[in-house]
This record gives sequence, structure tokens and C-alpha cells, in this order.
Amino acid sequence: MAGRFRRRHPFTSYHSIHPFDYAAAPIHMLTLTLPLRWAGMLLLLLLLSVMAMPISGLAVPRKKLALITGGNKGIGKEIARRIGMDPEFTAIIACRNVELGLAAAEDLRTNSEYECDVIALPISMDLTDPSSIEAVAHWVEKEYEDGILDVLINSAAICFNDPTLYGKVQFTPFQDQAGITIRTNYFGTLHVIQSFTPLLKRSSSPRIINIASAAGRLTILRSQQLVDAFTSDTLTVPALSKLMEQFVSDVESGTHTNKGWPNTCYGMSKLGIIALTRILAKSHPEMMINSVDPGYCRTDQNDNQGTVDPARGAYTPYLLALMERDDEEEEGGGEKEAESGLHFYEEQEIPWTYQS
Ligand SMILES: NC(=O)c1ccc[n+]([C@@H]2O[C@H](COP(=O)([O-])OP(=O)(O)OC[C@H]3O[C@@H](n4cnc5c(N)ncnc54)[C@H](OP(=O)(O)O)[C@@H]3O)[C@@H](O)[C@H]2O)c1
Repeated sequence: MAGRFRRRHPFTSYHSIHPFDYAAAPIHMLTLTLPLRWAGMLLLLLLLSVMAMPISGLAVPRKKLALITGGNKGIGKEIARRIGMDPEFTAIIACRNVELGLAAAEDLRTNSEYECDVIALPISMDLTDPSSIEAVAHWVEKEYEDGILDVLINSAAICFNDPTLYGKVQFTPFQDQAGITIRTNYFGTLHVIQSFTPLLKRSSSPRIINIASAAGRLTILRSQQLVDAFTSDTLTVPALSKLMEQFVSDVESGTHTNKGWPNTCYGMSKLGIIALTRILAKSHPEMMINSVDPGYCRTDQNDNQGTVDPARGAYTPYLLALMERDDEEEEGGGEKEAESGLHFYEEQEIPWTYQS
């Protein structure tokens, strides 16, 4: 279903121009004798066919489009840089602060190793505001011909760093962290995915890359019942969302530890993202949907205490954006391993338990 898109730009948009518009033609042309008019028409047809030749010869292959949430800084910005430097792609930065997004895009275009094709959205997208997410999906659909999005990378998230680990995050009691963390990181990301799915389905190789974390490893759950619920093959998105809501209400009522939930709202939000990735990969076999742990990167999320360069953390998401799907059988007749619904760390698929 892939089609070509043309980025609308005031300097490149063109209007349909008819070179021989009788209504607009000067009066003296309409008084030409009939044979002369026929000769004129023939000449015009010849001219038109000559003009059409170089136009079809200039057809350029369509560039793929990748949208990165939280692309104004940290790992998201480095993902936007890597993807924007790939000649196959145009990267779009989506963030809640338009000014920060525009500044990041300008910085990437000016200060990247290679030419970086990146733009920032002129409208805000806040994960806690569903209407802003829908407005952005609508903007992309209208702005790019054929309304295609090829790659969606969900990097935006919040973390309260228990409770103000690095002194940079305003102190928020644990009971108050759950609602906002799950609303932003889990439900916000889910809403982004749902809003962009129609655009992704028009791509010939759609993919979603969800930035998760080791904090969301399965072993943080302290009850086998919860482990079974999150890993069930029959788990659906509504059922998963219910589990996430249950976690919030159990934290708010102070009963979460008795029920086997962990003492980390951020970890639970990322565990939810990994579970969501697995469910969506099953229900959308036409897409490649994976999650990535970028490692402990030096970003504002940890007041730059991380040990990994965010550019390194951006590498696996970039590879997943690039990787071609290969549905063919492996040599020897065996089935190729699934390439969707997996969790990655440093270019490798790793188990959700983080125990091999
Ligand atoms: N850094 C690490 O060590 C590490 C480790 C594992 C996983 N991760 C994950 O990697 C991803 C990127 O994190 P990072 O380290 O690059 O963090 P970061 O530098 O703090 O960037 C977070 C991004 O999320 C955006 N964001 C937060 N709340 C939002 C909201 N309500 N609506 C829209 N955007 C929102 C921020 O926008 P503003 O600029 O407007 O705040 C920012 O662009 C996150 O998913 C994070 O959980 C990070």
C-alpha cells in the first residue's frame, strides 16, 4: 500500500497550471482562423508531451517517515538524530513543548555528523492530553500525502526517581506517583499507538518501537498470580489496562504490597509497556512491534548520572526502525524466528525476566 508523499512546504507546493486556458487567453487568440487554431492545438500537444517527459524522469523514491515522541531531548533526541541522518528517512520530533522541539530540530540539523532530515511538530503533544495526541496524528495524516507513517518510536516518559534520588524532581509521595506515572507512560503511550495505527497500516513496513527499561523486568512482580496474568497468551489490551488501573488503585489505598505489586511506579509503567508490546505484536502481525531497554543513559531523567551515552542507547531503536522484515523460511526449511513482540537490549533480544 506504500504511496509517495510530498511534504507540503510554501516554496515547493505547486498549483495545477493549465498552459492553454481559453477563458484566460487574450482576446486576439480567439479570433484566429480555424486551421490556424488546429495547428496551434497540435503544437500545444507536442509541447505538453515534451514537458511531461522530464517530470516523469525526475520521480524520486519516497522517504520513510518516523515519528519520535519525547524527541526534544535525551534518548529520543539521539534517536531522531540517527534516523534523520539515514538517507531513507525523515524524522519528526513530537513533544509537549513546541519551542523545545523546534530548537532540538534546529540543533540536530546544524550539529549532526551528516545531513539530518528532521523536523519538529508545530503543535504540542502531551501524553496526558488525548486530544493533543489525536491532533498530532491528524496533522501528520494531512501534512504528508497518502497519510503514511512508517515508524513510531515511543520515547517520552516520566520517572520520579524514588523519591527525589537526585534532588532534581519535586518530592512526590509514592501514593501520588502511581496515577500520573501510569497515565503518562502507559496510557499516554497506548493512546499514541492507537491514534497512529491507521497511518502505520498504510506503510509497506510499519513498525513501533517502545522504549522500556530494565526497571520493567517481570521479576519485580511479587506474586505468581500477577506474573501469570501479565504473561498470559490470552491477555488483551483492555485486560492489561485494567491491571494497570488496579495497580494505581492498590497503591492509592496502600494495599499494593500485600497484593504482590512492586514498590516502583516507573517500573510498573515499563512492565506494562513490555506487556503491551507483546499483545500488540500478536494482534497486528503485519507490523513489527518491539520494546527496547536503552541502558542507563546520561539524561535529565537521572540528572545525567547515567553511565551510557544516550547516542548508544539510541542505537538499538534505530536498528529496529531500519531492520527489514524477512518472512522467508530459514535455510534448511526451519521457520524464521519471530521479529515482533520481543524485548531488546544492546542489539540483542533478551528475556523479559532478564534471566537467561
Ligand atoms: N535515561 C535512562 O537511563 C533510561 C533507562 C531506561 C529507559 N529509559 C527510557 O528512555 C526514554 C527516554 O528517556 P530519557 O532518559 O531520554 O529521559 P528525558 O531526557 O527526561 O526525556 C524524557 C522525554 O519525555 C518527555 N515527556 C515527559 N512527560 C511527557 C508528557 N506528559 N507528554 C509528552 N512528553 C513528555 C519529555 O518532555 P519535556 O522535555 O517537555 O519534559 C522528554 O522529551 C524514556 O521512556 C525512559 O523511561 C531511560
